[in-house]
Amino acid sequence: MKITKKILSEEQIQERIIKLASEINTDYEGKNLIILGVLKGAFIAISDLAKNLNIDVSFEFMSISSYEGSESTGQIKIEKDLDIDISGKNILIVEDIFDTGLTLSSLIDILESRNPKSIEIMCMFVKSVEKKIPVKIKYKGFEIGSEFVVGYGLDYMGKYRELPYLAELS
Ligand code: IMP
Ligand code: MG
Repeated sequence: MKITKKILSEEQIQERIIKLASEINTDYEGKNLIILGVLKGAFIAISDLAKNLNIDVSFEFMSISSYEGSESTGQIKIEKDLDIDISGKNILIVEDIFDTGLTLSSLIDILESRNPKSIEIMCMFVKSVEKKIPVKIKYKGFEIGSEFVVGYGLDYMGKYRELPYLAELS
């Protein structure tokens, strides 16, 4: 497998992040927000977002996996859970990519049972495949095709996460 096409440039991604951060700044003005980053794929998006926020915010992380290589395994595994109580808190999940919806819908179910005050999702890349599980994504970075992509945090077998752009791998 190798990189065959650049799909989104670093400039396009940075411009979009600034717009999303400004929406989040407006929506959470005067409120406390916990950004819940989903590791590992969202780590670059979270740090780029963080630099553009000017609200009362803290950052927590969970580590979840559903993929092995380039195939979804059909179930999610919590590798690292939160170590704080989220009841009564405003939560914004930041995830890298939405494919079948399995990861985000399972995560929402888990977190809702912990009684947060509110829970919303920001997802950088949303694949335009027929979604198996519908999930409401309030802050969407880009809609992309159904191809397997890497870069901007996304990996293939642990590699390519460091690329500042999004590329197709085939
Ligand atoms: P879902 O659970 O099928 O929605 O898949 C979401 C998870 O699978 C993401 O959090 C990614 O970790 C991974 N994933 C899905 N599509 C891709 C891709 O094109 N490249 C890299 N990782 C992907
Ligand atoms: Mg992921």
